[in-house]
Order: sequence, then structure tokens, then C-alpha cells
Amino acid sequence: MSAEVPKIVVEPPGPKARALLERDAKVISPSYVRFYPLVIERGEGCILWDVDGNAYIDFNSGLAVLSTGHRHPKVIEAIKKQCDKFLHYSNTDFYYEESVRLAEALCEITPGKFEKKVYFGNSGTEAVEAAIKLAKWHTRKHRFLAFIGAFHGRTLGSLSFTASKPVQRRYFYPMLPGVTHVPYPYCYRCPFKQEFPDCGYWCIDFIEEYVLKKYVPPEEVAAILFEPIQGEGGYVVPPDGYFQRLKKLADKYDILLIDDEVQSGMGRTGRWFAIEHWDVVPDVVCIAKGIASGMPIGATVARSELMDWVGGSHASTFGGNPVSCVAALATIEVIREEHLLENAARQGNYIMKRFREMQEQYPIIGDVRGKGLMIGVEFVKDPKTKEPAVEEAKEIMIRSWKRGVAVITCGICTLRIAPPLIITRELVDKGLDIIEQVIKEVVQEKAR
Ligand SMILES: Cc1ncc(COP(=O)(O)O)c(C=O)c1O
Repeated sequence: MSAEVPKIVVEPPGPKARALLERDAKVISPSYVRFYPLVIERGEGCILWDVDGNAYIDFNSGLAVLSTGHRHPKVIEAIKKQCDKFLHYSNTDFYYEESVRLAEALCEITPGKFEKKVYFGNSGTEAVEAAIKLAKWHTRKHRFLAFIGAFHGRTLGSLSFTASKPVQRRYFYPMLPGVTHVPYPYCYRCPFKQEFPDCGYWCIDFIEEYVLKKYVPPEEVAAILFEPIQGEGGYVVPPDGYFQRLKKLADKYDILLIDDEVQSGMGRTGRWFAIEHWDVVPDVVCIAKGIASGMPIGATVARSELMDWVGGSHASTFGGNPVSCVAALATIEVIREEHLLENAARQGNYIMKRFREMQEQYPIIGDVRGKGLMIGVEFVKDPKTKEPAVEEAKEIMIRSWKRGVAVITCGICTLRIAPPLIITRELVDKGLDIIEQVIKEVVQEKAR
């Protein structure tokens, strides 16, 4: 099948897509951010088709969700079987085995060889909300540290921690009080204008010297919430050694570490969870997106002794839906059986190598960074000034899509490469050839 893709039979958005856009504009909330007018009809593996018959290589995975690709047969089989048993019975109020089996599996694959417990919600934001409430409940403390550039969700609790674009927060103030944001280790654009490693991890010392010792009493801080790799913020990878130091700081002041793996988890970076790249064991892990290959479910996994809240303190009617649970169990099985952690690492290294080769030819590529299949390619007008090439990044995204590669941006000017974990070398090459051609054209046109 991959011989025929990508295949553009009509310039997108085609007539059927345009008709749908008109209906959408009348009835769907305008608060959504649509990257471009791609109207999907169906998907299979790493390919998706739009309503006008165009076939695209999926370098986006439905926002890093379709970990085993579109409609993996094992995931579909598990869903169908469960549909013949029961669709829902509120795990908040009753029991079923599907959620217990999934919780057992998640306790096994999350970092830390200690006893854990799992809370189930339906989304990433709910996984984060649960972590926030749990940290408050367990510690009886009310302050938190978070990072500038972070994205943790859009409900009011998690939104209080989200800080990647003003539009996400505008007019929603006040939010949860007590959240203090500190700079994230974004070395390519160091907020302190320093160079790694000469900086000596100043951004860690800053937290202690200028935040905890000046105005945020550390004994009032329940937890630090962080993304091991910032997602929405620009696929930003902290330098080696950063998280070990953050953990040391947290331990010194008896502060919990909440690891938001909603985007980076479930194998995307070549490990089950991205924090494993730095051998740090967090107290709480938030999971969603890729966990069930497209079915909605979120999970908050915590040390057992930490999850000491009582009946009624937190729950969700749909949380841990049995159909989503079996889809997640099948996803975990497929990741193991098809060696997808290894594939993510292998293909990811190859993709980064190819972009680094392109970088030598096209100085518009300012930075290439990532782990596994969570790769950011940041575009700049000039590699010395690092002035963000916002319009160019957008143009590269749109043109890649129009040529048959569904890829999106993040941060200010970064292309995010996040294909399903099953992606093959053949599709990677096809997709990258198109993106390279587009970069070349955009660079040439801007030079005119
Ligand atoms: C790191 C991270 N946390 C939380 C969320 C929120 O997840 P959801 O959109 O499922 O609520 C996202 C979504 O992009 C995310 O990337």
C-alpha cells in the first residue's frame, strides 16, 4: 500500500472538505485551533485519507495519540470483543476487571519498583487535575511550581499550570492560586541567555535562590509539575543532568515530583516514559494520549502510600471506561510484541540524522532535537540571531500537508515530527523527502 502514498488527487481542501468546513463553522466551537483544513475520512496504519480521496503520510498521529497507528487490528479486535460484553458501568461506583488489569499493567511499566495505585479519568487534563488534587490531599499543602512554556491542559486546575501561549489563559483569571512558574531548561533559547554546560545548571539554582528562598516558602509547596520534554511549548528537551538536579532539589525540600507524560509517554520517546532517559523516578505520572491508540482515557499513577485519599474525594463517571481500558491493554501488548520502543528509537535517530544533514544545507533549520519519535525542528531567520521564522515554519507545515505529509507545528516556530510508533523507514523517507523539498522551496522563495 505504501507504494501509492502519499497521493494527492485534488488540491486540499477539495470540494467535499470545503463543504464540511462550512457546516463546521456554523455549529462547532470556534475555540478549537485547526492547523489546516484537513477533513479526515479514514485511516490505516500510518496513512490517512481525506474526504476527497487524498492519501497522506501521518507524521502527527492525531496529536501524538495513535501510538500503534490507525486502527491496529489487535486494538480493533479488543474493542469489538468488549463491545459485545458491556460498554459502561461507572468504575467510580462499581467494579470490573478491565480497569484492574490496565492498572496492573500501568503499575508495571511506569518508573519505580514500588507499589502504586491508579486513578482513571478520560483525558490528559483530567490526569493532571487528579495529580494536583492528590498532591493537595496527601500533603495538605497548597502551593506548586510549574514551568514557563508548559502545557498541562485546559480545565481550570491544569490551566493554572499551562503557560505556553497567552490565548490559553486570556480572560480566565483568576485560576488556582499558589502556582509559581519558573523558566524551563530551553537551552537553544536559554531564558537566562547562558550557554550549556558553562551555565552550571543556573536554572536549577535560580529556583532555589530566587524562588524558594525569596518568596515561595518551600514547606508550603506540595509538588513540582513538569513535562520531561515540553510538547506544546516546542518539543524542548532538557539537557542531561537537569532532572537529576531537579529531583535533588525536590527531595531537599520534601516536594513531590509530578511527571506529565501525557504527550511523551507510552513509548513515544523510545522508552515507556520519557523521564526514564534520565533515570529519575517521579512520585506521580500522568498518562493519556497514546495510551489507548485513539480511545479516550487518562491515568494518574502514584506511589501507593501517596494515594491515600478517601472515597468521594475524587472520581469520574466515565473514567476507566472498559472499552478504552481494553484498547489500552491491547496497545501495551502491541508495543511489546512489535518492539515499538526499539522502532521509535531507531526511526527517531534516523529522522534526526536526516534533519541534521538538512541543517547543514539550510540554515533556516536552527535546531533539531528530540528523543525517539518526539522530534522538534526549529526554524530561524538567521542561525546567529535565532530570530524565529514563524511564517516560514507555518508555510513549511502547510505545503508539506498539501503534498501529502500531515505534520504540525508547536512552540513558536518548530515543526513537530510525531508519527505512529509503527512507522517504517520507507514511509519516513518518503515523508522526509517531501518536507526537504518544501524547505528548499520556501528558502529559495524567501531569498528572492
Ligand atoms: C503534556 C500534556 N499534558 C496535558 C495535555 C492535555 O491533554 P488533553 O487534551 O487530553 O486534555 C496535553 C495535551 O496536549 C499535553 O500535551
